[in-house]
Amino acid sequence: MKPESGIILGWILLVARVGAARRGSPEEASFYYGTFPPGMSIPPLLCFSWGVGSSAYQTEGAWDQDGKGPSIWDAFTHSGEGRVLGDETADAACDSYYRVQEDIALVKELRVSHYRLSLSWPRILPTGIRAEQVNRRGIEFYSDFIDALLKSNLTPIVTLHHWDLPQMLQVTYGGWQNVSMTRYFRDYADLCFEVFGDRVKHWLTFSDPRTMVEKGYETGLHAPGLRLPGTGLYVAAHHIIKAHAQAWHSYNNTWRSKQQGMVGISLNCDWGEPVDINNPSDIEAAERYLQFCLGWFANPIYAGTKSTEQGLEMSRLPTFSLQEKSYIRGTSDFLGLGHFTTRYIIQRKYPSHQGPSFQNDRDLIELVDPNWPDMGSSWLYSVPWGFRRLLNFAQCIKCIKNAIIYVFTAIKDGVNIKGYTSWSLLDKFEWEKGYADRYGFYYVEFNVRNKPRYPKASVQYYKEIITANGFPNSQEVESWRLKALETCSINNQMLATEPLLRHMHVASEIVVPTVCALSILIAALLLTFLLRSHS
Ligand SMILES: *[C@@H]1O[C@H](CO)[C@@H](O)[C@H](O)[C@H]1NC(C)=O
Ligand SMILES: *[C@@H]1O[C@H](CO)[C@@H](O)[C@H](O)[C@H]1NC(C)=O
Repeated sequence: MKPESGIILGWILLVARVGAARRGSPEEASFYYGTFPPGMSIPPLLCFSWGVGSSAYQTEGAWDQDGKGPSIWDAFTHSGEGRVLGDETADAACDSYYRVQEDIALVKELRVSHYRLSLSWPRILPTGIRAEQVNRRGIEFYSDFIDALLKSNLTPIVTLHHWDLPQMLQVTYGGWQNVSMTRYFRDYADLCFEVFGDRVKHWLTFSDPRTMVEKGYETGLHAPGLRLPGTGLYVAAHHIIKAHAQAWHSYNNTWRSKQQGMVGISLNCDWGEPVDINNPSDIEAAERYLQFCLGWFANPIYAGTKSTEQGLEMSRLPTFSLQEKSYIRGTSDFLGLGHFTTRYIIQRKYPSHQGPSFQNDRDLIELVDPNWPDMGSSWLYSVPWGFRRLLNFAQCIKCIKNAIIYVFTAIKDGVNIKGYTSWSLLDKFEWEKGYADRYGFYYVEFNVRNKPRYPKASVQYYKEIITANGFPNSQEVESWRLKALETCSINNQMLATEPLLRHMHVASEIVVPTVCALSILIAALLLTFLLRSHS
Protein backbone atom coordinates (compact mmCIF):
# COMPACT_ATOMS: atom_id res chain seq x y z
CA MET A 1 0.00 0.00 0.00
CA LYS A 2 1.23 3.43 -0.83
CA PRO A 3 1.66 6.10 1.85
CA GLU A 4 -0.91 8.77 2.31
CA SER A 5 -1.21 12.01 4.13
CA GLY A 6 -2.75 10.61 7.26
CA ILE A 7 -2.46 13.31 9.84
CA ILE A 8 -3.34 15.87 7.21
CA LEU A 9 -6.56 13.96 6.78
CA GLY A 10 -7.36 14.44 10.44
CA TRP A 11 -6.88 18.14 9.98
CA ILE A 12 -9.31 18.17 7.13
CA LEU A 13 -11.92 16.40 9.17
CA LEU A 14 -11.60 19.21 11.63
CA VAL A 15 -11.88 21.79 8.93
CA ALA A 16 -15.28 20.30 8.45
CA ARG A 17 -15.94 20.26 12.19
CA VAL A 18 -15.26 23.92 12.70
CA GLY A 19 -17.17 24.60 9.59
CA ALA A 20 -15.41 27.76 8.62
CA ALA A 21 -15.83 26.61 5.06
CA ARG A 22 -14.17 29.13 2.86
CA ARG A 23 -14.47 28.53 -0.77
CA GLY A 24 -11.99 31.08 -2.02
CA SER A 25 -8.49 30.03 -2.91
CA PRO A 26 -7.91 26.44 -1.81
CA GLU A 27 -4.95 27.28 0.41
CA GLU A 28 -7.15 29.44 2.59
CA ALA A 29 -9.05 26.47 3.94
CA SER A 30 -6.02 24.53 5.02
CA PHE A 31 -6.10 24.31 8.81
CA TYR A 32 -8.58 25.00 11.57
CA TYR A 33 -8.37 23.76 15.11
CA GLY A 34 -11.18 21.91 16.78
CA THR A 35 -12.25 18.67 18.38
CA PHE A 36 -15.12 16.30 17.76
CA PRO A 37 -18.07 16.91 20.06
CA PRO A 38 -18.08 14.59 23.10
CA GLY A 39 -21.84 14.05 22.73
CA MET A 40 -21.04 11.92 19.70
CA SER A 41 -19.57 9.18 21.86
CA ILE A 42 -21.90 6.29 21.08
CA PRO A 43 -20.87 2.64 20.51
CA PRO A 44 -17.97 1.56 18.28
CA LEU A 45 -18.04 3.01 14.78
CA LEU A 46 -21.28 4.82 15.49
CA CYS A 47 -19.14 7.50 16.99
CA PHE A 48 -16.16 8.79 15.11
CA SER A 49 -13.66 5.97 15.20
CA TRP A 50 -9.90 6.26 15.07
CA GLY A 51 -7.98 3.30 13.75
CA VAL A 52 -4.92 1.83 12.19
CA GLY A 53 -4.49 -0.81 9.52
CA SER A 54 -2.30 -3.20 7.60
CA SER A 55 -2.62 -5.90 4.97
CA ALA A 56 -1.89 -9.63 5.03
CA TYR A 57 0.78 -9.98 2.35
CA GLN A 58 2.70 -6.93 3.52
CA THR A 59 3.06 -8.09 7.12
CA GLU A 60 2.28 -11.74 7.80
CA GLY A 61 5.21 -13.62 6.34
CA ALA A 62 4.88 -17.41 6.81
CA TRP A 63 4.19 -17.50 3.09
CA ASP A 64 4.16 -21.30 2.81
CA GLN A 65 3.35 -22.32 6.37
CA ASP A 66 0.44 -24.26 7.85
CA GLY A 67 -1.14 -25.15 4.53
CA LYS A 68 -1.15 -21.72 2.90
CA GLY A 69 -1.12 -21.77 -0.91
CA PRO A 70 1.03 -19.35 -2.93
CA SER A 71 -0.39 -15.99 -4.00
CA ILE A 72 0.37 -14.00 -7.14
CA TRP A 73 2.64 -11.84 -4.99
CA ASP A 74 4.66 -14.86 -3.86
CA ALA A 75 5.11 -15.83 -7.51
CA PHE A 76 5.89 -12.25 -8.57
CA THR A 77 8.55 -11.70 -5.90
CA HIS A 78 10.07 -15.15 -6.46
CA SER A 79 10.31 -14.72 -10.23
CA GLY A 80 13.92 -13.52 -9.96
CA GLU A 81 13.33 -10.87 -12.60
CA GLY A 82 14.19 -7.91 -10.43
CA ARG A 83 10.62 -6.73 -10.23
CA VAL A 84 10.91 -5.52 -6.65
CA LEU A 85 13.52 -3.08 -5.39
CA GLY A 86 16.43 -5.05 -3.94
CA ASP A 87 14.75 -8.30 -5.05
CA GLU A 88 12.92 -8.33 -1.73
CA THR A 89 10.07 -10.70 -0.96
CA ALA A 90 7.50 -10.76 1.82
CA ASP A 91 8.29 -14.39 2.67
CA ALA A 92 8.95 -13.31 6.24
CA ALA A 93 7.88 -9.62 6.13
CA CYS A 94 7.11 -8.46 9.70
CA ASP A 95 6.64 -12.04 10.89
CA SER A 96 3.18 -10.93 12.03
CA TYR A 97 1.78 -14.43 11.54
CA TYR A 98 3.72 -15.41 14.66
CA ARG A 99 3.32 -12.12 16.55
CA VAL A 100 -0.40 -11.51 16.81
CA GLN A 101 -0.41 -10.78 20.53
CA GLU A 102 2.60 -8.49 20.31
CA ASP A 103 1.11 -6.53 17.40
CA ILE A 104 -2.25 -6.17 19.11
CA ALA A 105 -0.44 -4.74 22.12
CA LEU A 106 1.07 -2.13 19.76
CA VAL A 107 -2.37 -1.34 18.34
CA LYS A 108 -3.70 -0.91 21.88
CA GLU A 109 -0.80 1.34 22.75
CA LEU A 110 -2.06 3.75 20.06
CA ARG A 111 -5.46 3.90 21.85
CA VAL A 112 -7.32 3.46 18.58
CA SER A 113 -10.75 1.82 18.56
CA HIS A 114 -10.56 -0.16 15.33
CA TYR A 115 -8.01 -2.22 13.47
CA ARG A 116 -8.20 -2.87 9.76
CA LEU A 117 -6.69 -6.13 8.57
CA SER A 118 -6.93 -8.16 5.40
CA LEU A 119 -7.35 -11.91 5.02
CA SER A 120 -5.05 -13.86 2.76
CA TRP A 121 -7.33 -15.69 0.33
CA PRO A 122 -4.75 -18.49 -0.35
CA ARG A 123 -4.19 -18.98 3.39
CA ILE A 124 -7.87 -19.86 3.70
CA LEU A 125 -8.33 -21.49 0.28
CA PRO A 126 -4.92 -22.73 -0.96
CA THR A 127 -6.03 -23.02 -4.61
CA GLY A 128 -8.52 -20.17 -4.33
CA ILE A 129 -11.50 -22.45 -4.92
CA ARG A 130 -13.68 -23.32 -1.98
CA ALA A 131 -14.99 -26.53 -3.54
CA GLU A 132 -11.43 -27.83 -3.88
CA GLN A 133 -9.83 -27.30 -0.48
CA VAL A 134 -10.43 -25.35 2.73
CA ASN A 135 -7.42 -24.80 5.00
CA ARG A 136 -8.74 -25.10 8.55
CA ARG A 137 -5.47 -23.82 10.02
CA GLY A 138 -5.83 -20.62 8.00
CA ILE A 139 -9.34 -20.13 9.35
CA GLU A 140 -8.13 -20.81 12.90
CA PHE A 141 -5.38 -18.24 12.54
CA TYR A 142 -7.77 -15.44 11.58
CA SER A 143 -10.39 -16.61 14.02
CA ASP A 144 -7.91 -16.35 16.90
CA PHE A 145 -6.70 -12.99 15.57
CA ILE A 146 -10.27 -11.62 15.54
CA ASP A 147 -10.93 -12.98 19.04
CA ALA A 148 -7.76 -11.37 20.32
CA LEU A 149 -8.77 -8.00 18.82
CA LEU A 150 -12.22 -8.15 20.36
CA LYS A 151 -10.76 -9.15 23.72
CA SER A 152 -8.71 -5.94 23.54
CA ASN A 153 -11.81 -3.90 22.72
CA LEU A 154 -10.68 -3.32 19.16
CA THR A 155 -13.28 -3.46 16.38
CA PRO A 156 -11.99 -5.50 13.45
CA ILE A 157 -12.56 -4.07 9.96
CA VAL A 158 -11.81 -6.92 7.61
CA THR A 159 -10.77 -6.63 3.98
CA LEU A 160 -11.42 -9.78 2.00
CA HIS A 161 -8.98 -9.10 -0.78
CA HIS A 162 -5.95 -6.85 -0.62
CA TRP A 163 -4.14 -7.84 -3.84
CA ASP A 164 -2.83 -11.33 -2.96
CA LEU A 165 -4.88 -13.49 -5.34
CA PRO A 166 -4.26 -17.26 -5.08
CA GLN A 167 -1.61 -18.09 -7.68
CA MET A 168 -3.56 -21.13 -8.88
CA LEU A 169 -6.40 -18.88 -10.05
CA GLN A 170 -3.93 -16.80 -12.02
CA VAL A 171 -2.13 -19.72 -13.61
CA THR A 172 -5.16 -21.81 -14.43
CA TYR A 173 -7.75 -19.18 -15.35
CA GLY A 174 -5.96 -15.91 -16.01
CA GLY A 175 -6.95 -14.27 -12.72
CA TRP A 176 -9.17 -11.20 -12.97
CA GLN A 177 -9.20 -11.45 -16.77
CA ASN A 178 -11.61 -14.34 -16.31
CA VAL A 179 -15.23 -13.74 -15.33
CA SER A 180 -15.21 -16.95 -13.28
CA MET A 181 -13.20 -15.04 -10.61
CA THR A 182 -16.51 -13.45 -9.59
CA ARG A 183 -17.91 -16.82 -8.58
CA TYR A 184 -14.71 -17.94 -6.81
CA PHE A 185 -14.57 -14.65 -4.94
CA ARG A 186 -18.22 -14.93 -3.95
CA ASP A 187 -17.64 -18.46 -2.59
CA TYR A 188 -14.59 -17.26 -0.65
CA ALA A 189 -16.45 -14.25 0.73
CA ASP A 190 -19.38 -16.43 1.69
CA LEU A 191 -17.08 -18.74 3.66
CA CYS A 192 -15.56 -15.76 5.48
CA PHE A 193 -19.02 -14.41 6.38
CA GLU A 194 -19.93 -17.87 7.63
CA VAL A 195 -16.90 -18.46 9.84
CA PHE A 196 -16.05 -14.92 11.03
CA GLY A 197 -19.29 -12.98 10.57
CA ASP A 198 -20.56 -13.71 14.07
CA ARG A 199 -17.74 -11.42 15.25
CA VAL A 200 -16.85 -9.24 12.25
CA LYS A 201 -19.44 -6.55 11.48
CA HIS A 202 -17.48 -4.38 9.06
CA TRP A 203 -16.35 -5.91 5.80
CA LEU A 204 -14.53 -4.44 2.85
CA THR A 205 -14.56 -6.55 -0.29
CA PHE A 206 -11.58 -4.94 -2.04
CA SER A 207 -8.91 -2.45 -1.11
CA ASP A 208 -7.94 0.08 -3.77
CA PRO A 209 -8.91 -2.04 -6.79
CA ARG A 210 -7.91 0.76 -9.16
CA THR A 211 -4.24 0.48 -8.24
CA MET A 212 -4.56 -3.29 -8.27
CA VAL A 213 -5.74 -3.37 -11.90
CA GLU A 214 -3.66 -0.44 -13.14
CA LYS A 215 -0.39 -1.84 -11.82
CA GLY A 216 -1.28 -5.50 -12.21
CA TYR A 217 -2.74 -5.49 -15.73
CA GLU A 218 -1.67 -2.23 -17.41
CA THR A 219 1.84 -1.27 -16.31
CA GLY A 220 2.85 -4.66 -14.92
CA LEU A 221 4.58 -3.08 -11.92
CA HIS A 222 2.58 -5.24 -9.53
CA ALA A 223 1.59 -8.89 -9.54
CA PRO A 224 0.57 -10.58 -11.78
CA GLY A 225 2.84 -8.30 -13.80
CA LEU A 226 0.79 -8.25 -17.00
CA ARG A 227 1.13 -5.49 -19.58
CA LEU A 228 -2.12 -5.34 -21.52
CA PRO A 229 -2.34 -1.59 -22.17
CA GLY A 230 -5.78 -0.10 -22.61
CA THR A 231 -7.63 -3.39 -22.22
CA GLY A 232 -6.48 -5.64 -19.36
CA LEU A 233 -7.34 -3.24 -16.58
CA TYR A 234 -10.84 -2.53 -17.87
CA VAL A 235 -11.64 -6.22 -18.07
CA ALA A 236 -10.18 -6.87 -14.61
CA ALA A 237 -12.08 -3.93 -13.11
CA HIS A 238 -15.31 -5.08 -14.74
CA HIS A 239 -14.96 -8.47 -13.06
CA ILE A 240 -13.96 -6.95 -9.73
CA ILE A 241 -17.09 -4.79 -9.68
CA LYS A 242 -19.21 -7.86 -10.41
CA ALA A 243 -17.38 -9.89 -7.78
CA HIS A 244 -17.98 -7.14 -5.23
CA ALA A 245 -21.68 -7.08 -6.07
CA GLN A 246 -21.97 -10.86 -5.78
CA ALA A 247 -20.30 -10.87 -2.38
CA TRP A 248 -22.58 -8.06 -1.18
CA HIS A 249 -25.70 -9.90 -2.38
CA SER A 250 -24.51 -13.07 -0.72
CA TYR A 251 -24.20 -11.17 2.55
CA ASN A 252 -27.50 -9.42 2.08
CA ASN A 253 -29.40 -12.60 1.24
CA THR A 254 -27.81 -15.06 3.62
CA TRP A 255 -26.03 -13.36 6.49
CA ARG A 256 -27.27 -9.84 7.11
CA SER A 257 -30.39 -10.78 9.04
CA LYS A 258 -28.36 -12.97 11.46
CA GLN A 259 -25.16 -10.99 11.65
CA GLN A 260 -26.29 -7.37 11.27
CA GLY A 261 -23.04 -6.22 9.71
CA MET A 262 -22.07 -3.99 6.80
CA VAL A 263 -20.25 -4.69 3.56
CA GLY A 264 -18.48 -1.94 1.67
CA ILE A 265 -15.53 -1.32 -0.59
CA SER A 266 -12.43 0.79 -0.14
CA LEU A 267 -11.50 3.07 -3.05
CA ASN A 268 -8.48 5.29 -3.36
CA CYS A 269 -8.34 8.53 -5.23
CA ASP A 270 -6.25 11.65 -5.43
CA TRP A 271 -7.97 14.97 -5.95
CA GLY A 272 -7.59 16.50 -9.42
CA GLU A 273 -7.74 20.29 -9.48
CA PRO A 274 -8.10 22.15 -12.80
CA VAL A 275 -5.05 24.31 -13.50
CA ASP A 276 -7.19 27.11 -14.83
CA ILE A 277 -10.57 27.23 -13.16
CA ASN A 278 -11.88 29.50 -15.92
CA ASN A 279 -10.96 27.11 -18.68
CA PRO A 280 -13.81 24.66 -19.42
CA SER A 281 -11.48 22.10 -20.97
CA ASP A 282 -9.29 22.01 -17.84
CA ILE A 283 -12.40 21.67 -15.69
CA GLU A 284 -13.58 18.81 -17.86
CA ALA A 285 -10.13 17.21 -17.75
CA ALA A 286 -10.14 17.39 -13.93
CA GLU A 287 -13.63 15.90 -13.83
CA ARG A 288 -12.42 13.13 -16.13
CA TYR A 289 -9.44 12.51 -13.87
CA LEU A 290 -11.79 11.87 -10.96
CA GLN A 291 -14.11 9.75 -13.06
CA PHE A 292 -11.23 7.51 -14.11
CA CYS A 293 -9.96 7.38 -10.55
CA LEU A 294 -13.05 7.11 -8.37
CA GLY A 295 -16.12 7.16 -10.61
CA TRP A 296 -14.92 4.10 -12.53
CA PHE A 297 -15.66 1.91 -9.50
CA ALA A 298 -17.96 4.12 -7.47
CA ASN A 299 -20.50 5.00 -10.16
CA PRO A 300 -21.69 1.47 -10.97
CA ILE A 301 -21.84 0.56 -7.28
CA TYR A 302 -23.37 3.75 -5.91
CA ALA A 303 -25.22 5.30 -8.80
CA GLY A 304 -25.71 2.52 -11.33
CA THR A 305 -23.96 4.35 -14.15
CA LYS A 306 -20.61 4.06 -15.81
CA SER A 307 -17.98 6.75 -15.61
CA THR A 308 -17.69 6.94 -19.38
CA GLU A 309 -21.18 8.30 -19.64
CA GLN A 310 -19.63 11.55 -18.54
CA GLY A 311 -16.22 11.11 -20.09
CA LEU A 312 -14.88 9.34 -23.10
CA GLU A 313 -16.67 6.73 -25.10
CA MET A 314 -14.40 3.75 -25.02
CA SER A 315 -15.28 0.65 -26.93
CA ARG A 316 -12.58 -1.16 -24.97
CA LEU A 317 -14.47 -0.64 -21.71
CA PRO A 318 -16.77 -3.61 -21.14
CA THR A 319 -20.32 -2.50 -20.44
CA PHE A 320 -22.82 -3.89 -17.98
CA SER A 321 -26.19 -5.06 -19.21
CA LEU A 322 -29.26 -3.31 -17.79
CA GLN A 323 -29.85 -6.33 -15.59
CA GLU A 324 -26.26 -6.27 -14.34
CA LYS A 325 -26.50 -2.56 -13.66
CA SER A 326 -29.46 -2.96 -11.41
CA TYR A 327 -27.81 -5.97 -9.73
CA ILE A 328 -24.69 -3.92 -8.96
CA ARG A 329 -26.34 -0.62 -8.02
CA GLY A 330 -26.60 -0.03 -4.28
CA THR A 331 -24.32 -2.90 -3.28
CA SER A 332 -22.40 -1.02 -0.63
CA ASP A 333 -23.32 -0.14 2.92
CA PHE A 334 -20.42 2.26 3.33
CA LEU A 335 -17.51 3.60 1.37
CA GLY A 336 -13.90 3.56 2.49
CA LEU A 337 -12.16 6.42 0.78
CA GLY A 338 -8.40 6.58 0.72
CA HIS A 339 -6.47 9.64 -0.30
CA PHE A 340 -2.84 10.18 -1.19
CA THR A 341 -2.26 13.59 -2.64
CA THR A 342 -3.44 16.16 -5.17
CA ARG A 343 -2.60 16.86 -8.79
CA TYR A 344 -3.24 19.85 -11.02
CA ILE A 345 -4.88 18.78 -14.23
CA ILE A 346 -4.84 20.29 -17.72
CA GLN A 347 -6.41 19.12 -20.93
CA ARG A 348 -3.79 17.52 -23.19
CA LYS A 349 -3.17 19.82 -26.14
CA TYR A 350 -1.74 17.35 -28.63
CA PRO A 351 -3.02 13.88 -29.46
CA SER A 352 -0.77 11.03 -28.38
CA HIS A 353 0.63 8.87 -31.15
CA GLN A 354 1.16 5.90 -28.88
CA GLY A 355 -1.28 3.00 -28.97
CA PRO A 356 -4.25 2.64 -26.66
CA SER A 357 -3.54 2.87 -22.94
CA PHE A 358 -5.21 3.95 -19.75
CA GLN A 359 -3.06 7.11 -19.73
CA ASN A 360 -4.18 8.03 -23.26
CA ASP A 361 -7.81 7.32 -22.55
CA ARG A 362 -7.80 9.89 -19.79
CA ASP A 363 -6.55 12.53 -22.26
CA LEU A 364 -5.07 14.82 -19.65
CA ILE A 365 -1.81 15.87 -18.06
CA GLU A 366 -1.05 15.77 -14.34
CA LEU A 367 1.07 18.45 -12.71
CA VAL A 368 2.27 19.16 -9.21
CA ASP A 369 2.91 22.55 -7.66
CA PRO A 370 6.59 22.95 -6.71
CA ASN A 371 5.46 24.90 -3.63
CA TRP A 372 3.64 21.96 -2.05
CA PRO A 373 5.57 20.40 0.84
CA ASP A 374 7.44 17.33 -0.36
CA MET A 375 6.98 14.24 1.78
CA GLY A 376 10.15 12.57 0.63
CA SER A 377 8.64 10.72 -2.29
CA SER A 378 8.35 11.75 -5.92
CA TRP A 379 4.59 11.50 -6.12
CA LEU A 380 3.41 12.29 -2.61
CA TYR A 381 2.73 15.91 -1.81
CA SER A 382 0.95 17.21 1.22
CA VAL A 383 -2.08 19.08 -0.07
CA PRO A 384 -4.70 19.12 2.66
CA TRP A 385 -7.32 21.13 0.81
CA GLY A 386 -7.37 18.50 -1.93
CA PHE A 387 -8.72 15.94 0.47
CA ARG A 388 -11.58 18.14 1.50
CA ARG A 389 -12.54 18.62 -2.11
CA LEU A 390 -12.31 14.92 -2.74
CA LEU A 391 -14.73 14.28 0.10
CA ASN A 392 -17.17 16.73 -1.36
CA PHE A 393 -16.82 15.15 -4.77
CA ALA A 394 -17.44 11.67 -3.41
CA GLN A 395 -20.51 12.99 -1.72
CA CYS A 396 -21.78 14.28 -5.05
CA ILE A 397 -21.94 10.86 -6.58
CA LYS A 398 -25.71 10.63 -6.75
CA CYS A 399 -26.65 7.88 -4.38
CA ILE A 400 -24.33 8.94 -1.62
CA LYS A 401 -25.47 12.50 -1.92
CA ASN A 402 -29.08 11.46 -1.50
CA ALA A 403 -28.27 9.22 1.42
CA ILE A 404 -26.05 11.42 3.50
CA ILE A 405 -27.82 13.82 5.76
CA TYR A 406 -26.42 16.00 8.45
CA VAL A 407 -26.09 13.38 11.17
CA PHE A 408 -22.96 15.05 12.40
CA THR A 409 -24.26 18.57 12.48
CA ALA A 410 -20.76 19.53 13.44
CA ILE A 411 -19.45 18.48 10.04
CA LYS A 412 -20.77 21.51 8.27
CA ASP A 413 -19.68 20.48 4.82
CA GLY A 414 -22.35 17.82 5.05
CA VAL A 415 -20.00 14.90 4.54
CA ASN A 416 -20.64 12.18 7.04
CA ILE A 417 -17.32 10.80 8.09
CA LYS A 418 -17.41 7.87 10.44
CA GLY A 419 -13.87 6.84 10.95
CA TYR A 420 -10.28 7.31 10.15
CA THR A 421 -7.77 4.55 9.55
CA SER A 422 -4.17 5.52 9.62
CA TRP A 423 -1.89 3.45 7.42
CA SER A 424 -0.07 1.63 8.77
CA LEU A 425 0.75 -0.04 12.08
CA LEU A 426 4.20 -1.32 11.13
CA ASP A 427 6.87 -0.67 8.56
CA LYS A 428 6.23 -3.40 6.05
CA PHE A 429 6.74 -4.75 2.55
CA GLU A 430 5.78 -1.84 0.28
CA TRP A 431 5.09 -3.77 -2.92
CA GLU A 432 7.51 -2.86 -5.73
CA LYS A 433 9.47 -0.65 -3.31
CA GLY A 434 10.43 -3.61 -1.12
CA TYR A 435 11.35 -2.40 2.36
CA ALA A 436 12.75 0.95 1.21
CA ASP A 437 9.75 3.02 2.28
CA ARG A 438 8.85 3.02 5.94
CA TYR A 439 5.33 4.23 6.66
CA GLY A 440 4.60 2.47 9.94
CA PHE A 441 3.92 3.94 13.35
CA TYR A 442 6.41 1.34 14.50
CA TYR A 443 9.86 0.90 13.08
CA VAL A 444 10.64 -2.72 12.25
CA GLU A 445 14.20 -3.96 12.24
CA PHE A 446 13.87 -6.39 9.34
CA ASN A 447 17.48 -7.59 9.49
CA VAL A 448 17.13 -8.98 12.97
CA ARG A 449 15.72 -12.47 13.24
CA ASN A 450 12.70 -11.76 15.45
CA LYS A 451 11.94 -8.42 13.70
CA PRO A 452 11.84 -6.15 16.77
CA ARG A 453 9.46 -3.16 16.63
CA TYR A 454 10.18 0.34 18.01
CA PRO A 455 7.70 3.21 18.36
CA LYS A 456 8.32 6.29 16.22
CA ALA A 457 7.43 9.83 17.25
CA SER A 458 4.12 9.53 15.44
CA VAL A 459 2.88 6.97 18.00
CA GLN A 460 2.89 9.57 20.74
CA TYR A 461 1.41 12.20 18.45
CA TYR A 462 -1.46 10.06 17.19
CA LYS A 463 -2.25 9.04 20.77
CA GLU A 464 -2.60 12.71 21.74
CA ILE A 465 -4.90 13.40 18.81
CA ILE A 466 -7.06 10.42 19.68
CA THR A 467 -7.17 11.26 23.38
CA ALA A 468 -8.22 14.84 22.61
CA ASN A 469 -10.51 13.58 19.83
CA GLY A 470 -9.01 16.16 17.52
CA PHE A 471 -6.78 19.22 17.63
CA PRO A 472 -7.87 21.58 20.43
CA ASN A 473 -5.56 24.54 19.67
CA SER A 474 -2.21 25.42 18.19
CA GLN A 475 -0.25 25.58 21.48
CA GLU A 476 -1.43 22.18 22.54
CA VAL A 477 -0.70 20.63 19.18
CA GLU A 478 2.78 22.15 19.20
CA SER A 479 3.40 20.81 22.69
CA TRP A 480 2.41 17.30 21.53
CA ARG A 481 4.82 17.58 18.69
CA LEU A 482 7.68 18.54 21.00
CA LYS A 483 6.75 15.88 23.52
CA ALA A 484 6.57 13.29 20.76
CA LEU A 485 10.02 14.26 19.53
CA GLU A 486 11.40 14.15 23.04
CA THR A 487 9.92 10.74 23.84
CA CYS A 488 11.24 9.53 20.58
CA SER A 489 14.75 10.76 21.17
CA ILE A 490 14.82 9.24 24.64
CA ASN A 491 13.61 5.91 23.32
CA ASN A 492 15.62 5.70 20.21
CA GLN A 493 18.11 8.21 18.90
CA MET A 494 18.12 6.70 15.46
CA LEU A 495 14.45 7.35 14.88
CA ALA A 496 14.57 10.91 16.09
CA THR A 497 17.06 11.84 13.46
CA GLU A 498 14.58 11.10 10.70
CA PRO A 499 12.36 14.10 10.05
CA LEU A 500 9.22 13.90 12.11
CA LEU A 501 6.97 14.84 9.23
CA ARG A 502 7.92 11.75 7.33
CA HIS A 503 6.48 9.57 10.04
CA MET A 504 3.32 11.59 10.16
CA HIS A 505 2.37 10.97 6.61
CA VAL A 506 0.90 7.60 6.70
CA ALA A 507 -2.01 6.31 4.77
CA SER A 508 -5.51 7.16 5.66
CA GLU A 509 -8.99 6.15 5.00
CA ILE A 510 -12.35 7.41 5.93
CA VAL A 511 -15.58 5.60 6.12
CA VAL A 512 -18.69 7.18 4.73
CA PRO A 513 -21.83 5.28 5.58
CA THR A 514 -24.65 5.03 3.10
CA VAL A 515 -28.30 4.16 3.46
CA CYS A 516 -28.17 0.97 5.52
CA ALA A 517 -25.73 2.33 8.05
CA LEU A 518 -27.70 5.51 8.23
CA SER A 519 -30.83 4.14 9.80
CA ILE A 520 -28.80 2.56 12.61
CA LEU A 521 -26.97 5.83 13.04
CA ILE A 522 -30.05 7.95 13.26
CA ALA A 523 -31.57 5.54 15.75
CA ALA A 524 -28.45 5.70 17.88
CA LEU A 525 -28.34 9.46 17.77
CA LEU A 526 -31.98 9.79 18.69
CA LEU A 527 -31.38 7.44 21.59
CA THR A 528 -28.45 9.52 22.75
CA PHE A 529 -30.49 12.70 22.68
CA LEU A 530 -33.34 10.95 24.43
CA LEU A 531 -31.10 9.66 27.21
CA ARG A 532 -29.56 13.07 27.61
CA SER A 533 -32.84 14.87 27.87
CA HIS A 534 -33.86 12.39 30.57
CA SER A 535 -30.69 12.81 32.61
C1 LIG B 1 -12.04 -19.09 -17.29
O1 LIG B 1 -12.21 -19.96 -16.18
C2 LIG B 1 -12.93 -21.15 -16.48
C3 LIG B 1 -13.04 -21.96 -15.20
O2 LIG B 1 -13.80 -21.32 -14.27
C4 LIG B 1 -12.20 -21.96 -17.54
O3 LIG B 1 -12.97 -23.09 -17.89
C5 LIG B 1 -11.95 -21.10 -18.76
O4 LIG B 1 -11.16 -21.80 -19.67
C6 LIG B 1 -11.25 -19.81 -18.37
N1 LIG B 1 -11.11 -18.94 -19.52
C7 LIG B 1 -9.92 -18.54 -19.95
C8 LIG B 1 -9.95 -17.64 -21.15
O5 LIG B 1 -8.89 -18.84 -19.39
C1 LIG C 1 -31.40 -7.29 0.71
O1 LIG C 1 -32.07 -8.25 1.47
C2 LIG C 1 -33.38 -7.88 1.87
C3 LIG C 1 -33.91 -8.92 2.82
O2 LIG C 1 -33.73 -10.20 2.30
C4 LIG C 1 -34.24 -7.72 0.63
O3 LIG C 1 -35.53 -7.31 0.99
C5 LIG C 1 -33.61 -6.66 -0.26
O4 LIG C 1 -34.34 -6.56 -1.47
C6 LIG C 1 -32.18 -7.03 -0.58
N1 LIG C 1 -31.57 -5.92 -1.30
C7 LIG C 1 -31.15 -6.05 -2.54
C8 LIG C 1 -30.63 -4.81 -3.17
O5 LIG C 1 -31.19 -7.09 -3.16
